Amino acid sequence: MSIIEAEHRTALPPSIRVRLAGPRDCEALVALLDEPAHAREQVLTWLETPGTTLLVAQSEIGVLGVAVLLTRIMPKPGGGMHKVVEVDNLVVHPDQRGQRIGRRLLAAVVEWARQRRAAQVEAVVGEGDARRFYESFGFAAAADRLVLAA
Ligand SMILES: CC(C)(COP(=O)(O)OP(=O)(O)OC[C@H]1O[C@@H](n2cnc3c(N)ncnc32)[C@H](O)[C@@H]1OP(=O)(O)O)[C@@H](O)C(=O)NCCC(=O)NCCS
Repeated sequence: MSIIEAEHRTALPPSIRVRLAGPRDCEALVALLDEPAHAREQVLTWLETPGTTLLVAQSEIGVLGVAVLLTRIMPKPGGGMHKVVEVDNLVVHPDQRGQRIGRRLLAAVVEWARQRRAAQVEAVVGEGDARRFYESFGFAAAADRLVLAA
C-alpha cells in the first residue's frame, strides 16, 4: 500500500450506516467472530432468540461490526420495573478497529434503546481494553447489581 493510501485510510474512516441484522447477514456475522467452530451456532442462536437484537455497521465493503443486545424488564433499585438493554457483545472486524466504528455502533445502540424507552444501557466487562472503550463513551460502574453465578 502506498503512503498516500495509508494516510487516506487513517484520515477517512469508511462511510458506514447502522442497521438491524437478519438471517441474510449470517455468513458476514460468522466471519466477524473469533471462534469459527462455534461462531455459526452462536449467530443462529442470536438471530432466533426473542429479546435479542443485532445491530450491524455496514459499509460498501460489507459488515464491519456487530452489537448484540438483550432487552430485559428488570426491578428498579427504588422499586417498580424498568426496561434495560444489555450490550451482550460488540465486535468490530480486526482490520477495521480504531476508526470509531465501535463508537458509532454504541451510539446507535443508545439511540435504539432510547427509542424503545429503555431506562439504561448496560455492559458487563472485566478490566482491559473493552472497559476503556465503554468508559470513553461515558459508561460508569453502578454498584446496585447483586449477581449469583447460576
Ligand atoms: C472494543 C472494540 C469494539 C472497539 O472498537 P473500535 O471501532 O476499534 O473502537 P473505536 O475506534 O470506536 O474507539 C472508541 C474509543 O474507545 C477506546 N478504545 C477503543 N479501543 C481501545 C483499546 N484497544 N484500548 C483502549 N481503549 C480503546 C478509545 O478511547 C477510543 O477513543 P479514541 O479513538 O479517541 O482513542 C474492538 O476493539 C473489538 O471488537 N474488540 C474485540 C471484542 C471486544 O472486546 N468487545 C467489547 C466487549 S463486548
